[in-house]
Amino acid sequence: MFTETMMESIKKVEATRAARMGTEPRRMTAEEKSELLKAYHPDYRPEGFKEIQIGPNKGQKAPVELTDLIHSNSRLLGENIDLSKIDYDVDVLVIGGGGAGSSAAIEAHEAGANVMIVTKLRIGDANTMMAEGGIQAADKENDSPVQHYLDAFGGGHFAARPELLRRLVMEAPDAIRWLNELGVMFDKDEDGRMVTTHGGGTSRKRMHACKDYSGAEIMRTVRDEVLNRHIPVVEFTSAVELIKDDKGQVAGAVLLNMETGDYMVAKAKTVIIATGGAGRLHYQNFPTSNHYGATADGLILGYRAGAPLLYQDTIQYHPTGVAYPSQIFGALVTEKVRSIGAMLVNKDGEAYAHPLETRDVSASAIIRECANGKGVETPLGSGVWLDTPMIEQIHGEGTIEKRIPAMLRMYLNYGIDMRKVPILVYPTLHYQNGGLEIGGDGFTKAIPNLLVAGEAVGGIHGRNRLMGNSLLDIIVFGRNAGKAAAAKAKEVKLGAMNLDHITAYAEELKKAGITQEGVSPLLLPKYARHER
Ligand code: FUM
Repeated sequence: MFTETMMESIKKVEATRAARMGTEPRRMTAEEKSELLKAYHPDYRPEGFKEIQIGPNKGQKAPVELTDLIHSNSRLLGENIDLSKIDYDVDVLVIGGGGAGSSAAIEAHEAGANVMIVTKLRIGDANTMMAEGGIQAADKENDSPVQHYLDAFGGGHFAARPELLRRLVMEAPDAIRWLNELGVMFDKDEDGRMVTTHGGGTSRKRMHACKDYSGAEIMRTVRDEVLNRHIPVVEFTSAVELIKDDKGQVAGAVLLNMETGDYMVAKAKTVIIATGGAGRLHYQNFPTSNHYGATADGLILGYRAGAPLLYQDTIQYHPTGVAYPSQIFGALVTEKVRSIGAMLVNKDGEAYAHPLETRDVSASAIIRECANGKGVETPLGSGVWLDTPMIEQIHGEGTIEKRIPAMLRMYLNYGIDMRKVPILVYPTLHYQNGGLEIGGDGFTKAIPNLLVAGEAVGGIHGRNRLMGNSLLDIIVFGRNAGKAAAAKAKEVKLGAMNLDHITAYAEELKKAGITQEGVSPLLLPKYARHER
């Protein structure tokens, strides 16, 4: 199962384990972190970025693959879409069937709105489902939302939009209460108190989890709530363009039936973009922990209609993606593995960094070790060890099975027992820190009645996100978007609908001399098989 070189390196990891127990490397100073990031973080590689030449963020940089999508024309250019033939007419249209979209739909429905979800795959095919380690909330005596704010603000390089981060941390305890009451099976002790742990960059143990199935359990629960409420969910149907009215308000979306190729018109008084992340664009050729549909669609829909992006140039590479075996290359190895005791160790058995540095720092340190010949060679590159047997030595036999059963099973499928041997990891493309810009109320400033929630938002976390704040933001901002959209829909009067922004965008591309092939949003990864 392991190569000879790997086996030799494992012997060194085993030989140094006893000496490493209870003696974590110190945390880096701010200067050390800053130098490390500049030298090794992929966000600092100029070749990974390209200047945006049109639209609200003209002159700024974005990952090459995202810029190329921004520089592409609409799928609808040249199509004759009859906007007078309305297929769906709702108060609130939610684009995206993940955790943010589902939470938004539940709250809009609760507020009495006529709400519909449209999703290009199935409800629950989303990064929410892939999330493992937990969800943060300062709801214990030794903690406070202020403390949570300070951790996240520092971890995000002081760039988070204060009004967004404030909402995130202040509404976190209520988000946990809401999920708990809906039926999420959080880990609890014998007294019924939530079990909480640290994540990278947290000063208090505030990570609530459902073993290492946290996202799947949350998605199961909110999806069931959507279905129990009989909220319409139109699956295998993509929103391919927003519709606006003659006052510049958002007025719905053009939908594409992914199976038949037919276009449909959804008219809506308010629209919530909750389309998630971009991992399947594989920035800088990184593998990804993201679900199959993570192709930045919402960013394109919003941008083409005139909504600015914020921090589109900052990406999160989760430090611990699977480096070996190749069959699961890039899959997520939850940060919880480190939070319950596993150390990051190089090929010589040296623990070269504190295991719970923030993600950008931790990922950069792994890249540095591998670049400097301290990584272990794998068929697809290299990686460092995550010394998982330490967990059972610290907490006792059975801990891995009890606390991180998904990890255990994932590796056992390939003959690797992480209770007995360490596992090889390398950073994987995990999260887009940037996205569409919103105000504290969830609305975009540029397009009336358009809201954004979840990973498609930029600015909640600044330039780096802490573990467990994404499962939190989909709930907090999803719920708020649903409530706000339902309230707003009561007063919206729509004018004549049009798709003028598509032709205007095409004109702008032409003026900029951009004649790029391909259309956007992408909808499915480049390597998808199209059988029609
Ligand atoms: O490591 C993890 O379990 C991932 C969590 C997150 O991205 O918040």
